[in-house]
Amino acid sequence: MNVRDSEAVEALLVAAGHEKVANEAEAELVIVNSCTVRDMAERKAVGKCGNLIAAKEGRGKARRPANAAVKIVGLMGCAVKRMGAEVFKHLPNLDFAVGPRRFGAIPRLVERCLAGEKGILELPDDDEVPTGMEAHGVTSFQSYVTVLLGCDNRCSYCIVPDVRGHEYSRPAREVVAEVRALAARGVKEVCLLGQSVLRYGVRNPAWLPDDLPSLGGYTEAFPRLLEALSAIEGLERIRFTSAHPKGCTDELVRAYAEFPKVCRHLHLPVQSGSDRVLKEMGRRYTRAEYLAAVAKLRAFDPEFAVTTDVIVGYPGETEADFEATRSLMEEAGFDNAFVFKYSPRPGTRSAALPDDVPTAEKERRDQVLLADQQVRGQARNARLVGTVREVLVEGPSLRNAARWSGRDGGNRIVVFEPKVPLVVGTSVMVRIAEAHPQILIGEIVV
Ligand code: 5AD
Ligand code: SF4
Repeated sequence: MNVRDSEAVEALLVAAGHEKVANEAEAELVIVNSCTVRDMAERKAVGKCGNLIAAKEGRGKARRPANAAVKIVGLMGCAVKRMGAEVFKHLPNLDFAVGPRRFGAIPRLVERCLAGEKGILELPDDDEVPTGMEAHGVTSFQSYVTVLLGCDNRCSYCIVPDVRGHEYSRPAREVVAEVRALAARGVKEVCLLGQSVLRYGVRNPAWLPDDLPSLGGYTEAFPRLLEALSAIEGLERIRFTSAHPKGCTDELVRAYAEFPKVCRHLHLPVQSGSDRVLKEMGRRYTRAEYLAAVAKLRAFDPEFAVTTDVIVGYPGETEADFEATRSLMEEAGFDNAFVFKYSPRPGTRSAALPDDVPTAEKERRDQVLLADQQVRGQARNARLVGTVREVLVEGPSLRNAARWSGRDGGNRIVVFEPKVPLVVGTSVMVRIAEAHPQILIGEIVV
């Protein structure tokens, strides 16, 4: 979501007459987009901003030459909303700070800074409808599209609802127009974004216009949106993230089965496998309900890719709770998993509980789950050896430029030798020869 917001800001600044430079060292204006979901994320963003301010003022040592050009430093995003005016205590000479739903104001703030102002703070309110969200700059063949802002779930550990505000679905007409324009510019793949994206249109059903009728008889907003986007010419793939199991309805499953452009991958954060912990977290599903959602997706396609987020070391998480998470991950057969060590966030319900799992124990649980996932990822990928997969070409592989890579519909990274001339953003068929925990290796089938 932050990557998308940053892109929109870049496009807005370019439209306002600013010029993008190739690297940070040449930039006169630098804006740091911050995250506050965990303490470490916030520290990184604030630390980076501090270094830039020091460079601007000619303080600091080795870093100064690296940012020699910088004249204006701004901070945007969730950490700004969390800190409010306190942000200037941590960063006294910051030029401007702007919260997540107000980034459309940035070009105007930059003008004010150029006119000599500093220390400007802009905080959105929780229901603010942002401007500039639809701005896209020079795009590649893949693009993010924000469809749902904020979150009203209020999981006990999560600061997102406090900083990103209330849930708000963008009108379907706007989303469809945006994706159409992207497809006309050569975008092949869109990823629809929302904290709980399957709740699209639930709170604002009126946004679904009557001129977007459902030929397939879909009644739920999100499947209807998928249906409308599927009809867009030139667009090849539709992804979305993140999901909550309550959104895995029969209509969603039917949409996956019916629309070939909708990729068979879902990022479905589980957070814990212990019913006791899930209840404490306020996740509103049980282990069995979660597993039933996964089973439903895999029932119509056994290769359906499911990925997840897990938190280890939640307050009061016992060894038995942790083992329940471990066994859930095995039962769900995740294709990939992101593991996070619990970090208390100010103002959240769980921040009132003692953060009682020692850091070393959180670390151990993290490592155990990651090691399990390596073995599981390898086994899941091994089942795909011999299959031919449609891969959207992304470019030379990061590790070995002699090879190219792309992704299959399940978001799996596929690496292959460029035997034929390849164009980024086109599809090739690849027969899988080798499976690794995180990647598949194969050969182009002509
Ligand atoms: N501590 C650790 N991890 C967290 N997440 C959200 N809040 C916290 C927290 N306080 C994780 C969740 C979420 C992911 C984006 O970040 O797993 O799915
Ligand atoms: Fe946070 Fe829960 Fe909303 Fe996800 S669903 S953003 S974890 S409150």
